[in-house]
Amino acid sequence: MSSIVLFGPPGAGKGTQAERITDTTGLPQISTGDMLRAAVKAGTETGKLAKSFMEAGQLVPDEVIIDLIKERITLPDAKDGVMFDGFPRTVPQAEALATITEVSHVIAIEVPDERIVERICGRYSCAACGSVYHDTFNPVPSEGCACGQWQEKRRADDNEATVTSRLQAYHEQTSPLAAWYRSRGIFHQIDGDREIDAITADILAALN
Ligand code: AP5
Repeated sequence: MSSIVLFGPPGAGKGTQAERITDTTGLPQISTGDMLRAAVKAGTETGKLAKSFMEAGQLVPDEVIIDLIKERITLPDAKDGVMFDGFPRTVPQAEALATITEVSHVIAIEVPDERIVERICGRYSCAACGSVYHDTFNPVPSEGCACGQWQEKRRADDNEATVTSRLQAYHEQTSPLAAWYRSRGIFHQIDGDREIDAITADILAALN
């Protein structure tokens, strides 16, 4: 089994691209952010622990994340590999991942910090299917989401104050991972400050 990692700052477009690449590769998307939000909503012990970190824009402790991934990876849909979205985010998470599955490609979507704030503050999604939209850059069609059950949802942590902390966590704790993966020869840099379709094309080319 061989897996893909989507890497990049908050709001870089990891979720947007994961949705498209999953259609082509057939690999299921595993988003630790989505898993944590589901745990918070369900009121599980993991959710209770994660909530304050997420609200503050800080990373949830490694051991919590690694346990979540170890459990998720045992599900049948993960047997031929997966696409990680937002994981790993620290070197200890990457070291743990290396013991769980082989990673064939790390796709780094690069977007300057000044673009991130406008992306995150304008983001919304469909509560029914999870498709991600943006007030300016990627609005939902006038007839509603393609799933037919359009219901707008905005994330609690998508505000200017939290974005600053999330960017700080990214630069201090996550970006060192780039060198870790580059030294393994599987790191692909993609300019994420372009049209969504152009980025998808470059990612698919890197995967081929
Ligand atoms: P998580 O849910 O992973 O959030 P994130 O990394 O901050 O990433 P986002 O989901 O915000 O952004 P994205 O890159 O997917 O961008 P999107 O496609 O939506 O994590 C949330 C929290 O959970 C963390 O802060 C942390 O507390 C915790 N957590 C999660 N994983 C963890 C881990 N491994 N370890 C520890 N803690 C963890 O796009 C953003 C917007 O831009 C959208 O509106 C979209 O329509 C728009 N857009 C996308 N592409 C483009 C483009 N090319 N041009 C213009 N607009 C675009």
